[in-house]
This record gives sequence, structure tokens and C-alpha cells, in this order.
Amino acid sequence: MNKRFAIVSVGAALALGLSACGGGGAGSTAPGESATSAAPADVTVGVAMPTQTSQRWIDDGNNVKSGLEALGYNVDLQYANDDIPTQASQISTMINNGDKVLIVASIDGTALSSQLADAAAAGIKIISYDRLIRGTENVDFYVSFDNYKVGVQQGQSLLTGLGILNADGSENPAATGPFNVELFAGSLDDNNATFFYNGAMDTLKPYIDSGVIVVPSGQTDISQIATQQWKTDVAQKRMETLLTSADSGVTLNGVLAPADIISRGIITALANDGYGQGGKAFPIVTGQDADIDNVKLINDGQQYSTIFKDTRLLAEEAIKVTGDYLSGNEPEANNTTDYDNGNKVVPSYLLESTVVTKDNIKTVLIDSGYYTQEQVDKGQK
Ligand code: GAL
Repeated sequence: MNKRFAIVSVGAALALGLSACGGGGAGSTAPGESATSAAPADVTVGVAMPTQTSQRWIDDGNNVKSGLEALGYNVDLQYANDDIPTQASQISTMINNGDKVLIVASIDGTALSSQLADAAAAGIKIISYDRLIRGTENVDFYVSFDNYKVGVQQGQSLLTGLGILNADGSENPAATGPFNVELFAGSLDDNNATFFYNGAMDTLKPYIDSGVIVVPSGQTDISQIATQQWKTDVAQKRMETLLTSADSGVTLNGVLAPADIISRGIITALANDGYGQGGKAFPIVTGQDADIDNVKLINDGQQYSTIFKDTRLLAEEAIKVTGDYLSGNEPEANNTTDYDNGNKVVPSYLLESTVVTKDNIKTVLIDSGYYTQEQVDKGQK
């Protein structure tokens, strides 16, 4: 269905809901006063995003902002440049400004407890966006993807790229290896990193145990392979170190990378080491997010796969949940078991993700209007 129509229909339902329950009253609401009595034009929604270093967060921010604005709300969209104190202070400002709902993609999921206690005291609803906020009662809802499954898809696509699995998912008994594979994980302060790692490792471990896959560095524990703040240069440095130590003289066949922002650093290090030249093939490198630069890398044969998480749908879900709260309704969850943040199991709505390789860039990303062919060719939006 046409996305604009979907958003407009939510908007119409919302407008009805607001006027039915609140008399459509105009005028600003004071901080802490119920937002359900306010007209959309008098409501501001705070949107706290972590960084602009990855295309996905820019798209997330823009999609959430434009969707809410189409419903008549004001939006305060902030990016925190991956800096934890900056994000905490942006959220404090949103609370002081009287924002009615906060949509937060946290940098460190445990670092916002005191701000969120203030928000809850002011009657503000808190939606955890993509990344689970941990260590606090004060998170009302979580919108994300099935993060464990994303990890499984990364592991499976690595196995498929190596030829250990056939395209239909069955095992290829002729692929006995050993295949040399190094492993990378995300930032340990992001709850998602553990979900991705667990999904991927549950998929890869049988092959590591049987010797079909060998990890030359021996580094398989998440603490050894994590990438602080998901930084491209941190991943590049670790790959460079591996290439001059454990992997020197070794032909690498694969690298498990948990996100495109990390894959880019890994691919730069591999290219500088001579991979992709003189008959030395690039290893199978995975990813996540279908960042436009990486879709080009996939098209050019340097990266094997990414996991596409449609940020348009995630934004739509966050907008729907916001609308529910502002009209006094409880949003609908489709998972009430998996996301325990240490203080409570947060009701969640999880979306599905898709593996993208060179073979389905067109059907998944271009035909759906996510990118144009020209953007893919250029590697730029
Ligand atoms: C994760 C997110 C991924 C990726 C990564 C790095 O939390 O789920 O999609 O973007 O952060 O930004």
C-alpha cells in the first residue's frame, strides 16, 4: 500500500480520536499536562537519534519527522554525534520544553535513567527506537526488528557466501573447508549488539566446532570482537591489526560484520592489504542496514551481503505508537517476552528483515522505491 496513504489514514484516525476524547481543544499544554487534550499543532514530539555517521539514522530521523509533521505535530529532531552526555542533555532539553512523547534511539542504553525518570514524572511517554533502553522502569514501548533473527541471517548469509549452505538453505557436504573467518561484533553498550552476536554465533558455532570454519585469531568472545560505538575506524584498526598478526600469511575467506558501518572499515583494511587485486578475492563480508555506500560495495563485489531493515516501516510504527499514546490508547505489541531491560519486559513491536546480496538489490531495494538505480550506481543518496 502507498505509504503516504497509510500515514494519512493514521492521521485521520488520530484527529478523530483527539477531538472525540479531548474536545479538540486548542492552546498549549503545560509540561506534565495530559497531551490527549491537545491539538496536534500544540504537541511537540522529541526525537533523539544517535549519530549521522550512518545513512540509516539519517533516514530514520527524516522519516519519523516528516511522518509526524504530516499529522500536524511539531518535531524536535536531534542527533548526538555518538556522544552520550550530548544525548542526555538533548533529552533534558526536550523534557524542559514540554515535549509530550520522546522517541529515543540511545547511544548507551543504560545511560539515560535519570533523564527518563524526569520524563516519566512529567507524564511523558517514552518509546525506545530500534535499540532497547535498559536499566529503567521508564520506557513504555519498544519498536525494532527481530534482532536475534538479524544475527541468524548474518550467520546464514556468511555460510551461503562461503558455499557451506546452498541457496535453499540446505548443507553442501562438499564444502568441508577449512574456511578462515574473522568475527566482529557491535558496541557493547548497545543491547542489539548481543542479540546480533547470539544469532550469528548460534548459526556459526557448529561449523567452528567441527573445524569447517577456523577463526585464525581465536577471538570469538563478544568482548574480544566488539567495536566501541560501532565506529568505522575502530573496526578498520582491528582488521589491520589482525592482517599483520594472526591473519598475516593466511587467506581470509570470510568476515562476519554486524553492520555496514563496520563492514566499510573492514573492507578498507582488506583492500589496503591487497584483497580484491591480482587474483586475491575479497572474503565474504556481511553487514546490516543496506547503507547506500555498502549497496554499491555489494554491487561492485567487495561486500557480499547486508541485512535490509526498512526504516520507512520502523518510522511508521513509531508514529503509530506515538499516535496511540497521544490519543490515550495502549499501542499493540507483537512481542511481550524477549526484551527484558533489567527492570521490566518492555512491550515490543518487531519488524522483519531481509538478506540482500547482489542478486536481489533490484527486487528488494529498487523495486520497493527505497533507492533508485542511479543512487545504487553512485553509492550516494
Ligand atoms: C544498531 C542498529 C543497526 C546499526 C547499528 C550501528 O543498534 O540496530 O541497524 O545501525 O546500530 O548504527
